[in-house]
Amino acid sequence: MRSTKKLLNMLEIDIPIVQAPMAGASSVELVAAVSNAGGLGSYGCSRLSPAEVIDLAANIRAHTNRSFNLNFFCHAPVLATAEAQAAWRARLSPYYAELGIASDGAPAPARAPFDEAMCDAVVAAAPKLASFHFGVPAERLLARVKGAGCVVASSATTVAEARRLVDLGCDIVVAQGLEAGGHRGMFLDMDIGAQVGTFALVPQVVDAVNVPVIAAGAISDARGAAAAFALGADAIQPGTAYLLCPEIKLGASHRAALASAREHVTMLTNVFTGRPARAFVNRLVREVGPMSDVAPAFPFAANAVAVLARAGETRGSGDFTSMWAGQAAALAREMGAGELTRGLVADAFARLGKLAAGAPAAGAKR
Ligand SMILES: Cc1cc2nc3c(=O)[nH]c(=O)nc-3n(C[C@H](O)[C@H](O)[C@H](O)COP(=O)(O)O)c2cc1C
Repeated sequence: MRSTKKLLNMLEIDIPIVQAPMAGASSVELVAAVSNAGGLGSYGCSRLSPAEVIDLAANIRAHTNRSFNLNFFCHAPVLATAEAQAAWRARLSPYYAELGIASDGAPAPARAPFDEAMCDAVVAAAPKLASFHFGVPAERLLARVKGAGCVVASSATTVAEARRLVDLGCDIVVAQGLEAGGHRGMFLDMDIGAQVGTFALVPQVVDAVNVPVIAAGAISDARGAAAAFALGADAIQPGTAYLLCPEIKLGASHRAALASAREHVTMLTNVFTGRPARAFVNRLVREVGPMSDVAPAFPFAANAVAVLARAGETRGSGDFTSMWAGQAAALAREMGAGELTRGLVADAFARLGKLAAGAPAAGAKR
């Protein structure tokens, strides 16, 4: 096992755990509970405007004086053609008809790539950690974020991505295994068949880079946390494990799916946004996906589906709702975020201690 000291010092936290940023489900209460417990609370900002990010940082600081993380998407801007959008609406039109609603008027996508205005907001907000998904911002923007005193991290889903992130200036790499809930952070090889599980990814990334590594993907209890530390991770980044915390914002269908996660499988699907993400399988995933050639490029698939999801939810159905979750969702437990933060790491280290104490001496007969 590696010492977690370097990472704890960099982030000025007491416990080697980062609550995963979760756009749409994040709350100030969740960030504060995790940071006040000694971990690093995170907020997924990909759907916020720059002004909202500045307000958010002030609001978080009103609830905690500890370090926190703000997270952004930095996908390359791609334009979905009018034909692609029309084809997607045509594919979804039976559902509009069934629900008796009109298709959307294609409002501007909420998940804008990281740009100059968002960079200004991050510089003003100056979180201890600025983390990214889908690569890192342009060199000039990244330099400004670092100049504001932020530590910078991003997700790697392969060893090649981890190396690239360090070359581009990341201080920390989040090794995101295939089991993880939410969007794959992939940005080099877009073939989902080449994505790597947490157990294989973490030790190889640890060997490949000379910066701290945070493990993410299927870490939902002390057994998974202990395994991640044993694989060489400097910290863990659970997401799904936090989804049943009372501090989180979660729709009724998503909460119900989690509560019966043993009966629900997750899959990688692009039907909700245009990019592969792990979600509970529901009707839309089953009938249109899991991977659809018709879904327009990220984030342009999202608007047309969001209209269906809203209409479904008002009828008490999660048939069209994106319910991000990782493969270890059935291990999530209802408990306060502070208690979860402290308990996961303490129990993982206790478990590792017990294993070390019970290990047979070298050369001993079994
Ligand atoms: C509901 C949900 C939303 C997520 N949103 C984001 C996000 O906005 N930014 C990000 O970097 N990762 C996001 N992720 C991925 C997490 O950072 C992390 O990789 C993942 O939760 C770890 O796997 P686990 O869910 O099995 O613990 C999200 C995950 C979930 C479950």
